[in-house]
Amino acid sequence: MTETLLGMLVGHRLAMMALLAATLGVLLRVLKPALRRELRPTWVLLLLTLVAQGGVAAAQWQGSASLAAIMGGAAIVMAVLALIQLAVLIVYHVLLPILGLTAPRIAQDLTVTGLSIAWGLVWLSLSGVDPTQLFTTSAIITAVLAFAMQDTLGNVLGGVALQLDNSLKVGEWVRIDELSGRVVDVRWRYTAIETRNRETIVVPNSWLMKNRFGVLRRRLDEPLVWRRTLAFNVETSAAPTAVIRALQQGVTDAQIEHVASEPPPSAILVDTGAGYFRYALRYWLMDPQFDDPTDSLVRIHALAALTRASISLGVPQEERLMVKENDNWRQANERRELERRLQAVQRTSLFAKLPPEEQMTLAEHLVHAPFVRGDTLTRQGAVAHWLYLIVQGEAEVLVDHGATKTRITTLRDGDFFGEMGMLTGEPRSATVVACTDVDCYRLDKVGFAKVLLARPSMAEEISAVLTQRRQELDSRVKQATQALPRSPSEDLLARIKSFFGVGS
Ligand code: CMP
Repeated sequence: MTETLLGMLVGHRLAMMALLAATLGVLLRVLKPALRRELRPTWVLLLLTLVAQGGVAAAQWQGSASLAAIMGGAAIVMAVLALIQLAVLIVYHVLLPILGLTAPRIAQDLTVTGLSIAWGLVWLSLSGVDPTQLFTTSAIITAVLAFAMQDTLGNVLGGVALQLDNSLKVGEWVRIDELSGRVVDVRWRYTAIETRNRETIVVPNSWLMKNRFGVLRRRLDEPLVWRRTLAFNVETSAAPTAVIRALQQGVTDAQIEHVASEPPPSAILVDTGAGYFRYALRYWLMDPQFDDPTDSLVRIHALAALTRASISLGVPQEERLMVKENDNWRQANERRELERRLQAVQRTSLFAKLPPEEQMTLAEHLVHAPFVRGDTLTRQGAVAHWLYLIVQGEAEVLVDHGATKTRITTLRDGDFFGEMGMLTGEPRSATVVACTDVDCYRLDKVGFAKVLLARPSMAEEISAVLTQRRQELDSRVKQATQALPRSPSEDLLARIKSFFGVGS
C-alpha cells in the first residue's frame, strides 16, 4: 500500500509539485522582493529535486531499480520540504500581514523546523519504518542525537524564552559588555545585533539566556531617552559650584539636537586628582543612533561655557612639573595671595580703620576657607578656634533652643563672626550656615592676639560689638520663646504663681 503511494508520488505528481512550488516561488519573489534571500533555500531544494529526478531516470536507464527508488524518495523529500518553506513564507509574509498580525522571526523558523521534522517522520512511516521504534530501540541514536542537539536546543529554547518573556525585542537598543547596537533579528539559533558601525554581531540565544545584557527601553508614556556621561578635568582653583553651573547651562541654553530638555542635564564632581578636579556632565540622548556626534556637540558647548566663565581645563600635575617654577614666579604668587588677604582685612568693618602694618599682620595669619551653600560654618556649642571674615556670600546665624531654631540675622560681604567664642573662650553661641557659596578667610588666635596686644583699644571695640550682638541674640530668642504656644501645664503654673504672687 505504502509502496503504491510512494510510486504515485514519484510519478507525474512530483513534477506537478515541483512546478507548483516553482510558480509560487516566482510569484512571491515578484510580490515581495525583500524575500529574495529567504527564498534561496527553496530554490536549492527545488534544484536538488530536479537532480534527484534526473538520478531516477539515469538509474532506470542503468536498470538499477533500487537506486531509482532511493533517488525517487530523495526527490519527494526535497520537493515537499520546498513546499513547506514556501507555505510558511506565504503564511508569515502574506496572510498574517493581511490580517494585521506580525509574528516574531523565530516563530517562522520554528514552524519550518517543526513541519520539516513532521514531514520526515511521515516519510519514514510511508517508507515502512516506524519512527517511534527507531528512537526507542536504538539507545545509541537517541543518545547521540540528544548530545548533538544540546546546544541547538539551548539556543532554540533561549530564543523562544527571550521572545515570550519580552526581555528582548527586534528594534530595541541593547548593550552587551562594551558593545551596543540595535536588535535586527531574533532567529532560532541566534540574535543579530547591528552596531552603529554597521557590523552585525551574532549572539547565540543560549548565551543571552545565561549572561547579563542591558536593554534600552522607554518608560510607559515617556519618550525613549538614554543618559550619557561626559568627563571634564577642570583646574582646581575654579569653585566647583561655578563649574557645575557653567557645564549645566552650557547644554541647557544651547538646545542641541537629540538632547532632551527633560530630564535636564546635570553635572557632578566625581573625582579629585593631582592638578585637576574631574566632573561628569550627564545629559539625556533621545536617539541612540546619534550618540557620538551628540556627545561631541555637547562637549563643544560645555567647553565654550567653561571658557565664558573663565574656567580652564585641569592639567595633570606630571605635566605641570615640566614648567619650571622659579623663585620669582613663586614669590609673585605669594604676593598675589597676600594682597587678596589684605583686601579681606580692609573690607571687614572691624579692621578697616587699623593702620596698614597691623592690617598686614592680620593678613599674614589669614587662611582661605571657602564654603558652599548649605555648609555649616560654625556649630552652636562647639569649641572656638577661629574668627571668620566673609569676603563674598551670605550666611545665616541660627540659635537652637529646645525643639526650635531661631534665625538671628544674616551676615554678608565684609561681616565677621566667631568673635564671641574666640575672645571669651565660651562655646559657640550660635550656628552659622551658608545660604549661598561663601568665600571666607579665617584668623587664628595667635594672629588676633598680636593685634590685640599692640592695640588694646580694639578689645573695647570688639566687646561693644559682642555686647550688642549678644543682646540681639538674647532678645530674639526671648521673642521666639514667648511667641511659642504654651502647653496647658505651663499655663496652669503661671496662673498659680501669679495667684500666690510668686515671681517667675
Ligand atoms: P561665636 O559665639 O563664636 O559663634 C557664633 C557666632 O554667631 C558668634 O560668635 C557671632 O559672631 C555670631 N553672632 C551671634 N549673634 C549674632 C548677632 N546678633 N548678630 C551677628 N552675629 C551674631
